[in-house]
Amino acid sequence: MCGIVGFTGKQNAAPILLEGLTRLEYRGYDSAGIAVREGDKPPVIVKAKGRLKNLYEKTNDGMAVIGACGIGHTRWATHGEPSENNAHPHCSDDLNVIGVHNGIIESYQQIREKLTRKGYRFHTETDTEALIKYIDYYYKKYNMGPIDAIAKTMVRIRGSYALAVMFRDYPGEIFVARKDSPMILGMEDGEAYLASDVPAILKYTRNVYYIGNMEMARLSPGKITFFNLDGDEIEKEPTLIQWDTEAAEKGGFQHFMMKEIHEEPKAVRDTIHSVCHDGAIDLSAVGLTTEEIRNVDMIHFVACGSAYHVGAAAQYVMEDLARVRVRVELASEFRYRRPILGKNDLVIAVSQSGETADTLAAIREAKAQGIKTLAIVNVVGSTIAREADHVFYTLAGPEISVATTKAYSAQLAAVYLLAVQFALDRGMVDGQTYDKLLGDILRLPEQIEKTLEDKERIQWFAAKFSGAKDIFFLGRGIDYAIALEGSLKMKEISYIHSEAYAAGELKHGTISLIEDGTLVVGVLTQENLYEKMISNLVEVKSRGAYLMGLTSYGNYDIEDTVDFTVYIPKTDPHFTASLAVVPLQLMAYYVSVARGLDVDKPRNLAKSVTVE
Ligand code: G6P
Repeated sequence: MCGIVGFTGKQNAAPILLEGLTRLEYRGYDSAGIAVREGDKPPVIVKAKGRLKNLYEKTNDGMAVIGACGIGHTRWATHGEPSENNAHPHCSDDLNVIGVHNGIIESYQQIREKLTRKGYRFHTETDTEALIKYIDYYYKKYNMGPIDAIAKTMVRIRGSYALAVMFRDYPGEIFVARKDSPMILGMEDGEAYLASDVPAILKYTRNVYYIGNMEMARLSPGKITFFNLDGDEIEKEPTLIQWDTEAAEKGGFQHFMMKEIHEEPKAVRDTIHSVCHDGAIDLSAVGLTTEEIRNVDMIHFVACGSAYHVGAAAQYVMEDLARVRVRVELASEFRYRRPILGKNDLVIAVSQSGETADTLAAIREAKAQGIKTLAIVNVVGSTIAREADHVFYTLAGPEISVATTKAYSAQLAAVYLLAVQFALDRGMVDGQTYDKLLGDILRLPEQIEKTLEDKERIQWFAAKFSGAKDIFFLGRGIDYAIALEGSLKMKEISYIHSEAYAAGELKHGTISLIEDGTLVVGVLTQENLYEKMISNLVEVKSRGAYLMGLTSYGNYDIEDTVDFTVYIPKTDPHFTASLAVVPLQLMAYYVSVARGLDVDKPRNLAKSVTVE
């Protein structure tokens, strides 16, 4: 949801800014721009509509823009269409203040009206232009320094922002502020960096500073000073980032998505072993005690997108294993529903980025009601991770492709481990069943590897259906949760309309959409629901559907009903989502490739959605 970068040091800034933006392009890719300054000369601003490569071309890979201090932005349009004019950086008309921004300024109309009365003119449709000109207004009105001018603006605006600004009177310096949108800062060898996310600066430094909410900072070559809203200096320690740079590269794969699918065994294995020692789960790093686990009355999963689908699976797994009441809710609905939470409830937020605005708001809503919160998060130090009472980090490493794969799988693993520990602590399973369940979880990584071996068949099948108009995914129980994720993967990267249905519900309306040749994917990993699923598949087959079945090895009689089958290894029925999702991810990937689409950056989407 927009990416920002900044650099000040000795080297030429533009190539560093472009490189950083390349790593952030997953956050938005409808236009991009940079502003670079050389000493006290006026900034050079270059913007380009469309993908970042256009900006690379316009700046001759950054070589045509000279200066050692600069800021950059890659945009996911919210206010105003994607165009060169609406692209960032935005500036005051006299170039006194120039800035880039990720987030939304909700009060931008009022700011525009106020500033228009004061003689300001607006040339774009963006909320950011209002923000930058508001800073310029306070800077001039009170003749104050940049930090005070930004602070004055911060207390007067509504919205979210990660903001980086340069002031004409302060060559070689960048000023930043943050509220609810992500931003990290880094320092190395007499240079200073800022970015929306770690991969953008990982090539240059591993020492990263997290700027807090409603805080500001001043960057100059080799120096970063942090300030609170009162303008007082505050101390911060850097965090050493463990990810290696290679983790953010394609490593020989054509797309990040395929690389990340192949990293699923490792992501799941690392996540399991982070809390699993000597044949037992140890949640002390998460901070959950046996007593807390026993006292939970109800669990509320809140999340968005694929992370919500993890919650959908978790609902079945946790309720069945631990016999604890579980509700799963879209974070965007939870926050405005005035949720009724019990004092012993636990709210679990699931998020890869740890920055999703609605999920963050849900955590805050729970905390405001005094309810305990746990975050299952991938990005270390992200806002949700910092604000939740407990954090269970998934160890998926950086995920670049917009369509999530390995982070989703790592989240599932985290949920299984919680479910099994809850089951034990709440007396729902004996030691033997616990060992058996844990053994099955520990085997998942190698079983995922096995599932990947079937990719050529899936590629063949995907090519055959790459021209499909509609695809339906059916399942019951946990298989329904898998169907939801399979369908989302398909539609988000192939642009083929697809729907997931609880198989028993299809006949209540949607079955009217089944035509001759419509592809219906049935997920049948739950033995107790297998026959019911077969009946539902026969119902759609009689109406002309072409059937793909996804089931466990052993259920070979499925071939009497379906036209194409994919088998997954056998595991405990609670954990099948981890295996069944892989062929569906692969299928979506191959359909997207066969259609010649941009797999890693599907249109209109962004990986990290930091606006409502
Ligand atoms: C975006 C992404 C999805 C993701 C969702 C939640 O919509 O495109 O892939 O599942 O946000 O993101 P989070 O970072 O909270 O898991």
